[in-house]
Amino acid sequence: MTNPLDFTGKRVLVIGGSSGIGNGIAQGFRARGAEVYVTGTRPDEGDYLEAEDSDLTGLGYRQLDVTDRDGAAALAADFGALDVLVQCQGIVRYGRKEFERPGWDDVIEVNLNSVADCAWAFHPALGESDGTMIVVSSVAAFKSVIGNPAYAASKAGAASLVKTLGEAWARDGIRVNGIAPGLVPTKLTAVTTQHPERLEASLRSIPLRRMGTPEDMAGAALFLASPLSSYMTGQTLVVDGGLTLS
Ligand SMILES: NC(=O)c1ccc[n+]([C@@H]2O[C@H](COP(=O)([O-])OP(=O)(O)OC[C@H]3O[C@@H](n4cnc5c(N)ncnc54)[C@H](OP(=O)(O)O)[C@@H]3O)[C@@H](O)[C@H]2O)c1
Repeated sequence: MTNPLDFTGKRVLVIGGSSGIGNGIAQGFRARGAEVYVTGTRPDEGDYLEAEDSDLTGLGYRQLDVTDRDGAAALAADFGALDVLVQCQGIVRYGRKEFERPGWDDVIEVNLNSVADCAWAFHPALGESDGTMIVVSSVAAFKSVIGNPAYAASKAGAASLVKTLGEAWARDGIRVNGIAPGLVPTKLTAVTTQHPERLEASLRSIPLRRMGTPEDMAGAALFLASPLSSYMTGQTLVVDGGLTLS
């Protein structure tokens, strides 16, 4: 019997896989036999050697700054075959910056507009392979985030895009699903996770009483890219230790 979680022979691209959750997802696919590529904003993979939550061992690296709206199409033009596209790029702006246009625009550009750009760019390759796209949004897609209106709106938009593309691309043989993480310690959340009092307060609101890990998110991504989820499309899995249950 073949192992549904064996990705040998599959090509996987993780946008925003240079660090944090995307990096954990990339390493999860690599550990199960896939040929995995990641993108990050820095020119060269060597630029991540010192980074704490980045392990590029065994991964191909491509530079992509998604604020260049033509960047995804340029990457897709010479990327070749693709079975799984994971979109894990994301930013947040603290200090009420998202309540003004520059901060709002920055976050919407990276967290929502670029998800569409990458989807359009890799749609042909995914159609060729009967592939899968996975979009990492957030529990913020489904609730208010008091200091971050752009982050919450961008993630709601990303989860919405998963639904519509799930329906629209079904006829092309492509499944589209999402993951909504709760709290995972990365450079995006260091403002909370490296602040003992804020971290303690956050942990009190998580029924499983721990933060999530990039490996926890990889588990969901592997399932969504595998035949184990062959009858799922347009759905976003909440992976939050129970954070949003009450
Ligand atoms: N951590 C959490 O608790 C949490 C919770 C819910 C959802 N999420 C979502 O999970 C995803 C990954 O976040 P993370 O927590 O793992 O943070 P992270 O470690 O900061 O990873 C973010 C990734 O996005 C890339 N990126 C940032 N700006 C970009 C740009 N302009 N163009 C292209 N790539 C860009 C980063 O590249 P560089 O490494 O070069 O900066 C990195 O690869 C995000 O969509 C985030 O919103 C995270």
